[in-house]
Amino acid sequence: MATHKLLLLPGDGIGPEVMAEVKKLIAWMNAHKMGTFETEDGLVGGAAYDAHKVSITDATMAKAHAADAVIFGAVGGPKWDSVPYDARPEAGLLRLRKDLALYANLRPAVTYPALADASALKRELVAGLDIMILRELTGGVYFGEPKTITDLGNGQKRAVDTQVYDTYEIERIGRVAFELARKRRNKVTSMEKRNVMKTGVLWNEVMTQLHQREFKDVTLEHQLADSGGMQLVRNPKQFDVIVTDNLFGDMLSDIAAMLTGSLGMLASASLGETNPKTGQRKAMYEPVHGSAPDIAGKGAANPIAMIASFGMALRYSFNMGREADMIDQAIAATLDKGLRTGDIKSEGTTLVGTTQMGDAIIAEMERLAR
Ligand code: IPM
Ligand code: MG
Repeated sequence: MATHKLLLLPGDGIGPEVMAEVKKLIAWMNAHKMGTFETEDGLVGGAAYDAHKVSITDATMAKAHAADAVIFGAVGGPKWDSVPYDARPEAGLLRLRKDLALYANLRPAVTYPALADASALKRELVAGLDIMILRELTGGVYFGEPKTITDLGNGQKRAVDTQVYDTYEIERIGRVAFELARKRRNKVTSMEKRNVMKTGVLWNEVMTQLHQREFKDVTLEHQLADSGGMQLVRNPKQFDVIVTDNLFGDMLSDIAAMLTGSLGMLASASLGETNPKTGQRKAMYEPVHGSAPDIAGKGAANPIAMIASFGMALRYSFNMGREADMIDQAIAATLDKGLRTGDIKSEGTTLVGTTQMGDAIIAEMERLAR
């Protein structure tokens, strides 16, 4: 069996705590001959800054390039609020995305049956929800130049961010959206702001043409991103795959997360182009939640998004769909038993900490493996 090389980047805040649960799961899988995983740890974010004065070192980047997949925790926290902008913790994450060319960010929002009451929305709106937010991850306003603050000399400053998209960037993310939809419920909703932004006009045009040319069998809908956000909380089950740009995807995926009960539930996969020779693609897997400095170090964080992100690695990097399904089932079963971390706690359920939740999920894996 092939050995899968993983680079683990726990990062800051609750990152190391939730990553510890993934490490336990990896050890368990190795022991049960479910794949052979070799792991190496690296520093990113504030942790890297404290050690090396940069948010990620070139040596760690080289390891990320060499790994079969990167498993990422979370970065940031008030401790690093005043470090130089280029060395801020988030810069490490953005460099990983950009340098590994991980343009396709899959953020599945799935409401586990046991959690339908944990959502801020009514149970009937979210029960059975299964949507995929596909966020463009290496372009748009996150990376566009110029990106500056200029002193105008009259007591005023001017800040500029640049939203920029080329045809090929829209086309390749569109292609991922349509291909995902074909394996799901065959519907893509494209979101932009063509009523205000030129990038929105081009986005809409390229999606429409790509659909006409290659994906006529898939239903394509267009929504303005603001109205799309409204529809996400009004009637989320109308969606299957939502494809959108980097910034709108950032915001819409946080909204979608709350449909599932908590930001602590949302996993993500960031994928690059498939190499036609090897069939391999660069990939990074990370929970959508941040470093949650307020609860860091307390053993209270929800490890489910982190564990589910590792499950996505099995599915998208290692063709281990069966094992990925098993992880999802183990999470669902653990929730069915009434175990909850603080973020998803509701009446009549049992409050547990990070390690208890991780142990319970592994115990369910043990049961499913029998
Ligand atoms: C996310 C995060 C990041 C982003 C931050 C930490 C830079 O919010 O992955 O959604 O804005 O992309
Ligand atoms: Mg975000």
